[in-house]
Amino acid sequence: MPDPAAPSSAAPPDPIYLATAIEAVLEAGRIQLAYFGRDDLRVDKKGAIDLVTEADVAVEQGFRAFVAERFPDHAVLGEELGAGSPARCTWIFDPIDGTTNFAHGLPIFCASLALEIDGVIEVGAVYDPTRRDLFTAERGGGAYWNGKRLRVAERTALIDALLCTGFHYDVHSTGEAVLKLFGAFVRRARAVRRLGSAALDLCYTAAGSFDGFWEDRLKPWDIAAAGLIVAEAGGVITSLDGSPYDVRKGNLAAANAALHPQMLDVIRETRRQL
Ligand code: IPD
Ligand code: CA
Ligand code: CA
Repeated sequence: MPDPAAPSSAAPPDPIYLATAIEAVLEAGRIQLAYFGRDDLRVDKKGAIDLVTEADVAVEQGFRAFVAERFPDHAVLGEELGAGSPARCTWIFDPIDGTTNFAHGLPIFCASLALEIDGVIEVGAVYDPTRRDLFTAERGGGAYWNGKRLRVAERTALIDALLCTGFHYDVHSTGEAVLKLFGAFVRRARAVRRLGSAALDLCYTAAGSFDGFWEDRLKPWDIAAAGLIVAEAGGVITSLDGSPYDVRKGNLAAANAALHPQMLDVIRETRRQL
């Protein structure tokens, strides 16, 4: 699997793909807002604490119809309706990242969309409709927040860093390692946040609001777009054990080049004590 964070000499992606991704996430945001805050919003459980709302499904259905019309030979890998047959070009889509927030009326959620071509993430777009924040990146072309170029933070000491993380949906049963690591970072950093949307967490890391982010057991649709946005903002992104980042491995640590090794040290130390 190629490393999406690694520099590549291949030609940049066709600009039609970023334009399409932006159009799709803006439309996703429009549908999200049509459902957000409704008293009669239908919420189902995929697991004890893993929710899906009618809005998640409606957004993903709309997106699949859009891709089928624009690019009939492309595949879609989406959270709620699965993966179709493999294709050279795959759109990786989270219709709502931050579903628990959405279902509780908390306005911290987004749509996240990436295009993978021949195994390389070429384009990413993340849209938060409540703040009208659009984060985008093309491989080799930099990352942008509402058109403004993004750069990761410059802080170099963990004790001065504002970090962010999240917890997987099996945290009740198998969360010991996750909670231990959370505690370790709380003791080492200025502060640690848990916003409930991994895609936005990574975009805020790309923007330098968060100095670093880590999480275990994420899914490709949580990170495909925002992982590229962090890398294009100059961030270092690897797996939690320091091996190359892989969108399908689902665990990652992201920060600037000075803080990233310090984060890996904390992870290594904490894992040794388990
Ligand atoms: C979740 C969010 C959350 C993260 C979870 C994800 P969802 O995605 O990104 O921040 O901690 O691991 O599953 O379920 O809201 O799409
Ligand atoms: Ca998600
Ligand atoms: Ca989701």
